[in-house]
Amino acid sequence: MDRVHITDVAPRDGLQNQAVHASTAHKLALVERLAAAGIGSVEITSFVSPKAVPQMADAADLLPQVQARLPALRSSVLVPNRKGLERAHAAGAHEIAVVLSATETMNRKNINMGLDEAIAVSEQTLQAALALGLRTRAYVAVAFDCPFEGETPLDRVVDLSLRMTKAGAHEIVIADTIGSASPGMVKERMGALTQAIAADKLAVHFHDTRGMGAANAWAALEAGIRRFDASVGGIGGCPFAPGAAGNLATEDLVLLAERSGFSTGISLPGLLDAIDLAQEVLQRPLGGRSIAWLRKQRDSASGTHLKRPQGLHQSPTQLAPPPG
Ligand code: HMG
Ligand code: MG
Repeated sequence: MDRVHITDVAPRDGLQNQAVHASTAHKLALVERLAAAGIGSVEITSFVSPKAVPQMADAADLLPQVQARLPALRSSVLVPNRKGLERAHAAGAHEIAVVLSATETMNRKNINMGLDEAIAVSEQTLQAALALGLRTRAYVAVAFDCPFEGETPLDRVVDLSLRMTKAGAHEIVIADTIGSASPGMVKERMGALTQAIAADKLAVHFHDTRGMGAANAWAALEAGIRRFDASVGGIGGCPFAPGAAGNLATEDLVLLAERSGFSTGISLPGLLDAIDLAQEVLQRPLGGRSIAWLRKQRDSASGTHLKRPQGLHQSPTQLAPPPG
């Protein structure tokens, strides 16, 4: 069966912009539940300025704890520059992601660099990571529309993706930062990108602002893409991109993929356990478009196809009560 590979970005994209503070223990527990659900790859945190994103200030504490508890998990971390890479490497990172936006203004707002500087810094950071033997991803953010500059020229997205590939990125993550893409745009853009770069090296990262996340994921699947970012419960959003809402929910993507004949290796009941925990921590209801139906299936004794698979009964880390 055709495999779809999902990186859950909830601990990083999901928690970077929350009003409620998630402790290191909460984050660790969330990652453990994701791993128990069968998620094989998680973006754990980011090594960014704690002044810019206070929610990620515990990155150097969290990452080693995750890697010690879950050595088989692919644990990735976002780094915006060489300093971020140095901090990530010192904390034992095996995989990093750089974040390059495709417009001048978005780079300035996000990482305080113009486009040319952001390209150079991303290239240098990737090359330094490769020299350290790390696995590397490169985000190309605002790859559809920029909240400041409007529609992003497609040829620039292709050019930047090629530059990141040449700099050694193992995976290029095409990101719809503000969730403005449509399936038609995804078809066109991913079609052009797969002409230039092997589909196996491309991933997509959709936000679900306009309810198009699942439709966009389908368009990406049709374009031959098999690598996806998603966020359990649909939490997420870049603090520096006005209008950015939560990511495509992992549970919606898993349901879409599995019902369409792809395998993900991910358990929906396991994801519901992770969402329960995230709700407890963030103190508000969470979940993607399918959440009401999924919960009904779980609650119903006859929901046999959503029965918890064997081996998912281990208890996650005990939680301290959420602060406040
Ligand atoms: P800056 O102020 O221009 O940096 O920030 P600087 O080089 O002038 O340094 C200022 C201070 O920050 C210095 O400390 C540096 O040492 C420190 P001070 O001397 O004042 O004490 N510093 C750092 N500290 C920790 N870690 C670092 C680091 N670098 C410098 N890596 C910087 C530039 C990039 C650091 C800042 O703008 C920043 O951290 N931005 C965070 C951006 C961010 O996290 N955005 C959200 C993630 S991206 C996203 O969500 C989009 C994505 O999901 C895809 C999509 O949806 O499109 C990935
Ligand atoms: Mg994002």
